[in-house]
Amino acid sequence: MTLTQRQPSMLAAMSIPPATGQARGPAIHVQGLEKSYKELHVLRGVDFDVAPGSIFALLGSNGAGKTTVVRILSTLLRADAGTARVNGFDVATQAADVRASISLTGQFAAVDEILSGRENLVLVARLRRLDDPGAIADDLLRRFALSEAGARRVATYSGGMRRRLDIAMSLVGSPPVIFLDEPTTGLDPQARIEAWQAVRKLAEGGTTVLLTTQYLDEAEQLADRIAILHKGRIIVDGTLAELRQLLPPAKVEYVEKQPSLEDVFLAVVGDAGEDGN
Ligand SMILES: Nc1ncnc2c1ncn2[C@@H]1O[C@H](COP(=O)(O)OP(=O)(O)O)[C@@H](O)[C@H]1O
Ligand SMILES: [Mg+2]
Repeated sequence: MTLTQRQPSMLAAMSIPPATGQARGPAIHVQGLEKSYKELHVLRGVDFDVAPGSIFALLGSNGAGKTTVVRILSTLLRADAGTARVNGFDVATQAADVRASISLTGQFAAVDEILSGRENLVLVARLRRLDDPGAIADDLLRRFALSEAGARRVATYSGGMRRRLDIAMSLVGSPPVIFLDEPTTGLDPQARIEAWQAVRKLAEGGTTVLLTTQYLDEAEQLADRIAILHKGRIIVDGTLAELRQLLPPAKVEYVEKQPSLEDVFLAVVGDAGEDGN
């Protein structure tokens, strides 16, 4: 099972009462993480820290190992070497505490199509054994601009509404750390913007967000800090401003301009027009 196809069973696995403990130091601490799938050495010593309440983007191309990192951090997969702590808890030795501290949202919406948006939220709140699931659902519907659509079946929702609901569902129980694995892959431009707004809402409330993405603009739009995962390691890690400083300042260059077809067209037509007068 991959994270990008979150199954109901995984929803159940994540449906643990909210965490009581709070992280001291980084919300996520990763050091020397290694993972191989047989011969394939995917993670070769991954290090990074995520500050509490920040949005951290793990940027990498397809197959870079982003989902592998997320699966290790959410205790679904064991690392071969290295340490990882989430909300102060070790993923290897304190897995239950880690699970109680996180929520995980994969690439494809895990919402139930037959149920309404509100029913989906109530269901998750019940699974998490929270008091007053109805009030929790109504509050989240309001925060994610889904109040009007709340009573409608999810089958009638647009891609953006679905993703918003999916992200709202990850907030049920207020986990301090949220993992979003490629939250906008496969979404149309409008739905992407809606999903970005939803992610910003998460961080506004003080939640720590680790998102993975293969889109530079997504990292640029959302992240307080960006780490690039490449060939099994983090090759750069910093704020957008810090990353920009890695490149020399833009130079103004003068180049001989080749005429475009449009230039040719206008020149020819213009000449013809003048001849005709
Ligand atoms: N369970 C698995 N068994 C074998 N290879 C895997 C498994 N999961 C992932 N891989 C491989 O590991 C590499 C990294 O995968 P993944 O972490 O999913 O990358 P990303 O999420 O960045 O696209 C890919 O080459 C992928 O094919
Ligand atoms: Mg992935």
